Amino acid sequence: MPVSFANLKDIENKPNYKFVKMDICDFEGVLKLMQDEKVDGIIHLAAESHVDRSIKDPFTFAKTNVMGTLSLLQAAKAYWESLPEKYEGKRFYHISTDEVYGALKMDGTLFTEETKYQPHSPYSAAKASSDHFVRAFHDTFGMPTIVTNCSNNYGPYQFPEKLIPLFINNIRHRKPLPVYGKGENIRDWLYVEDHARAIDLIFHEGKVAETYNIGGFNEWKNIDIIKVLIATVDRLLGRPEGADLDLITYVTDRAGHDLRYAIDSRKLQRELGWEPSLQFEEGIEKTVRWYLENQEWMDNVTSGDYQKYYEEMYKGR
Ligand code: TYD
Repeated sequence: MPVSFANLKDIENKPNYKFVKMDICDFEGVLKLMQDEKVDGIIHLAAESHVDRSIKDPFTFAKTNVMGTLSLLQAAKAYWESLPEKYEGKRFYHISTDEVYGALKMDGTLFTEETKYQPHSPYSAAKASSDHFVRAFHDTFGMPTIVTNCSNNYGPYQFPEKLIPLFINNIRHRKPLPVYGKGENIRDWLYVEDHARAIDLIFHEGKVAETYNIGGFNEWKNIDIIKVLIATVDRLLGRPEGADLDLITYVTDRAGHDLRYAIDSRKLQRELGWEPSLQFEEGIEKTVRWYLENQEWMDNVTSGDYQKYYEEMYKGR
């Protein structure tokens, strides 16, 4: 995934920020960086994250998500164990996904921190494996680790391979909206800044060796979200109501498509006092406005390689 420097503009002049381009699988490089920067805390978000890509190219997912995580863990272990205080005051926080829990039925049940792992896609299998490695480093070496499993995120700067930014862009340009299957799958959506607040809170106040689920109690059927997106884009662009409903195009379902995800985040609410700040309608409005106002960003990330990838992905659908 190409790094988009536009995503980092807000923070580029902050004194406590430094960008280093490095492959997380480069163990030697990562170890040297940790030593040079005297790293005492790691928030590990680096991952291949798109299910459709993982179906086409599982090797890349195993490499980045599993071996990359292992390389970070090994480097942190080597560096922290070389210090006199060892793991004292250190923290390795691994960001994961609700997809490791598998799929729920349409029966109102929720994923809790105790739900057993049952990943179905190469993506979720790779994330599940990386979660196990993180916990193993706590259990085996005493590394102070934390894992969180979050539901689907949405908001500004999301790469347009994911449903919400992809569809906003397609509606704007009146391109077909490829709805997998019948559009009845359910996802639990969280505004990205609410996730970011949760990460900040958990990094500072979460308990070592714990798992926290993060989610907004905000379940939506894909087709219902798509209709909200169409209505919002059309309204903001001054198009007649329902003008773009005909863009909805039902296509072959995603292989192994998980029916429903829904997170029980009560532990995080109860123990650390976090709760989502935005209602979905408000978050969607903000998100659609952001993409419509940032067409240049979209054009940059959708040019070149992405275009080829996108055409290849949807060939024959
Ligand atoms: P996505 O954004 O890929 O997230 P995830 O697979 O991690 O949940 O997809 C969200 C839902 O939207 C999922 O049920 C698949 C569906 N979807 C489509 O119907 N069409 C699309 O083009 C995409 C990208 C997703």
